[in-house]
Amino acid sequence: MKKPLRIAVVGLGTVGGGVLKILETHKEMISVRAGREIQIMAVSASNKTKSRDFDISSYEWVDNAAELGLADNIDLVVELVGGSDGIAKVVAENTLKAGKSFVTANKALIAHHGAYLAGLASDNKVALRYEAAVAGGIPIIKSIGEGLAGNKITKVYGIMNGTTNYMLSQMERTGRSYDEILEETEQLGYLESDPSLDLDGIDAAHKLAILSSVAFGVKTDFENVYVEGIREITTRDIEYAGELGYRIKLLGITTYEKGKLKQRVHPAFVALDEPVAAVMDGFNAIAVQGDGADKCFFQGRGAGEGPTASAVVADLIDIARGHMDEAFFVPASKLVPAQPVSMTDHLSSYYIKLHVAEAAGVIADITAALKNEDVSLDQMHQKGSEEDGSVYVVLVTHEVLESSLHKALKEINNLPVNLNDAFAIRIENL
Ligand SMILES: NC(=O)c1ccc[n+]([C@@H]2O[C@H](COP(=O)([O-])OP(=O)(O)OC[C@H]3O[C@@H](n4cnc5c(N)ncnc54)[C@H](OP(=O)(O)O)[C@@H]3O)[C@@H](O)[C@H]2O)c1
Repeated sequence: MKKPLRIAVVGLGTVGGGVLKILETHKEMISVRAGREIQIMAVSASNKTKSRDFDISSYEWVDNAAELGLADNIDLVVELVGGSDGIAKVVAENTLKAGKSFVTANKALIAHHGAYLAGLASDNKVALRYEAAVAGGIPIIKSIGEGLAGNKITKVYGIMNGTTNYMLSQMERTGRSYDEILEETEQLGYLESDPSLDLDGIDAAHKLAILSSVAFGVKTDFENVYVEGIREITTRDIEYAGELGYRIKLLGITTYEKGKLKQRVHPAFVALDEPVAAVMDGFNAIAVQGDGADKCFFQGRGAGEGPTASAVVADLIDIARGHMDEAFFVPASKLVPAQPVSMTDHLSSYYIKLHVAEAAGVIADITAALKNEDVSLDQMHQKGSEEDGSVYVVLVTHEVLESSLHKALKEINNLPVNLNDAFAIRIENL
């Protein structure tokens, strides 16, 4: 058998702990599969004396994780700390520059610095792997980069954040408000320490930017991902969506056509018979549209100790086997700069919710505002009167330019009968 792959693990939290447990529990099986032993040499975290539900006494403890990549007795460093910069980036740079492979679950790091780090890995002829950074236990990076390598891929979309999918599922099932479900989700420990990463779609945007690079061979371009989160979704929207034959999902969608890259994360109405509409709770799902394979649909657990650690260990086994493929499956020097597309020219049909005072001529005023901007209507539903006499009106538009829709909504918002700003959600034709 070949000599062991000697690794160091920095970050011993949810994912780091999971990785150590899998490597120890399945030691024999992994050695056979990898063709060599994967030996944990050293670990690092912020607090050496913290109580953990796994034993680290047989590994060397290193206080300063930045030094791990420089040690002679280490071949590879696994980073499971998090954050796009700080210690995670330092460890990545030190390790790759020292000619050692680097494995991470850190989506923020790869979304912000993917092309740069891929270049470092390429220059130093080592591997950079990040399967766990996108959709947890779903092996989506390898599936796109290897399994679908013969396809020209034009679109990748799906549910990339389990926490918000859980929240939307709970709002639908229980009819309870966004704020109530948010509190419960926080108590369950499902939210990131900075909840904005989940609620404002940033975490999903990190993953989408990575998927764009893997699928299309473009440089990671997180800055140009259009992002909207779920904070404004109400149970009323979820209920109206159901009545119209849809379910609201926070989708990440990336398309690449004629050199133009459109990356967007936003809530969307998805027809109930679409597979992605049936993906509930903490699950993630990714669909990949290729010209040969057509649409492939992947579903699985997007986070948590087991699923995420499973993906990290798969990367380790792959490297132990000697697979040193390029980080984004094309030479880093061949990654092309993305040409971002603005959402102003985006075409979509829309659900619009209006809350208006009941008065003569309201509907005429609304339709006039829409007509002024060439927004044509497919459906209009006036809901029953509220206790205060106000009325909710639901509109479904035909396809319209995003810029025209915004102008029409501005006009509607200025109508004296309007009680709240109109709220619009794109209806996604997947
Ligand atoms: N949790 C998930 O389900 C999941 C899913 C996909 C991807 N990820 C990604 O995986 C990574 C780790 O996530 P996690 O949930 O495992 O985080 P976590 O539970 O908060 O653990 C973070 C670990 O980093 C250590 N740490 C913090 N600052 C450090 C420093 N300066 N030097 C060395 N170690 C330091 C902490 O040390 P102490 O233990 O001593 O405090 C802790 O062990 C992140 O990039 C995250 O985005 C997580």
